[in-house]
Amino acid sequence: MQFEIDNSHRLQFQPLDLPQRLLLGPGPSNPHPRVLSAIGEGVVGHLDPAFIALMSEVQELLRYVFQTNNELTIPVSGTGSAAMEASIANLVEPGDVVLIAINGYFGERLAEMAGRYRADVRTIQKPWGEFFSLDDLSRALEQHKPRILGLVHGETSTGICQPMDGIGNLCREYNSLLLVDTVASLGGVPFFTDKWGADIVYSGSQKCLSCPPGLAPITLGPRAVEKLQGRKTKVANWYLDLTLLTKYWGSERTYHHTAPINMIYALREALFILAEEGLEASWNRHRQTAEYLWDGLAEIDLTPLVPYDHRLVSLTTVQVPQGLNAKEVSNRLLKEYNIEVAGGFGPLAGQVWRVGLMGYNSRIECVDQLLAALKAITSN
Ligand SMILES: Cc1ncc(COP(=O)(O)O)c(C=O)c1O
Repeated sequence: MQFEIDNSHRLQFQPLDLPQRLLLGPGPSNPHPRVLSAIGEGVVGHLDPAFIALMSEVQELLRYVFQTNNELTIPVSGTGSAAMEASIANLVEPGDVVLIAINGYFGERLAEMAGRYRADVRTIQKPWGEFFSLDDLSRALEQHKPRILGLVHGETSTGICQPMDGIGNLCREYNSLLLVDTVASLGGVPFFTDKWGADIVYSGSQKCLSCPPGLAPITLGPRAVEKLQGRKTKVANWYLDLTLLTKYWGSERTYHHTAPINMIYALREALFILAEEGLEASWNRHRQTAEYLWDGLAEIDLTPLVPYDHRLVSLTTVQVPQGLNAKEVSNRLLKEYNIEVAGGFGPLAGQVWRVGLMGYNSRIECVDQLLAALKAITSN
């Protein structure tokens, strides 16, 4: 051999050994066991007829979950942020006025991304933990007349669920496209893409869809597709360019990038499980489990941050009582009980815990485990 191999990075590792956690934070959530089995299936080629059939099934099941007839409905390779970036990269052309409604961290991320694609970014802001009224949005649309209005349906940083009634119609009046983040809500909270007139909607696999992180569903309605097709400039992100991706996901089946095959199996199984249960039943289950949590919290004198009517059922922000250290409690939950919950950040740092009951983890026994652990910790 010409050179001697450098073994300095070849440490003596042990075989993989991971703790079994109950993931009750803002995501990822524990995947459904059937989804984990599906991931272990043998790999087939990304142009294998069997895989192509599966791709179409995934698209059809996504249409069901999004409640849309949009042809352009696919899972983007990557996490929720990849679909967020896909929506911005594909719909924004330099100089477009893009209005982002910011009432938490993920609205800020949307604005940051839009700026990077050289949008003329305008914002309408609310304190973290509040939502936008139709009047708020109407005034901002009148003032800015944006090409796109972006907002977050389920704001994971605050636990707010943005009411959607009327926003789609308002956007049509101003000839604006409505872009909605449903990363923390899709599958767990009612969402009607077509009926609500949402033009671009995206999500992530790892929350209410009971899948590991790694895929990010997105759907574009006819008005968004028209804007995409009418672009004067190329989409500035090759990997997320929907004009190329749809050649693989559409009838041409042209190679773009190698699909993450086993993650597509996982998503297919997760969506199949959701379709077996039925969307309405899933939404009801998420609400009932959240209500059970809220009742249990009241019994140990813990209070959600968000008023009842606007709580995101998949993610509850729980106020940290005076005298308790949020971080210490979540550390003990993890170390002593194998339960993950998250703390707050930004303006809510140290003030809340973020408790997710998403997808497969939206079950009474998960809440019971958490409440028993919280009770034990907060009482000593
Ligand atoms: C509302 C919301 N949007 C976007 C994202 C970004 O998704 P990811 O972390 O999967 O990239 C998240 C992740 O927590 C989220 O909760």
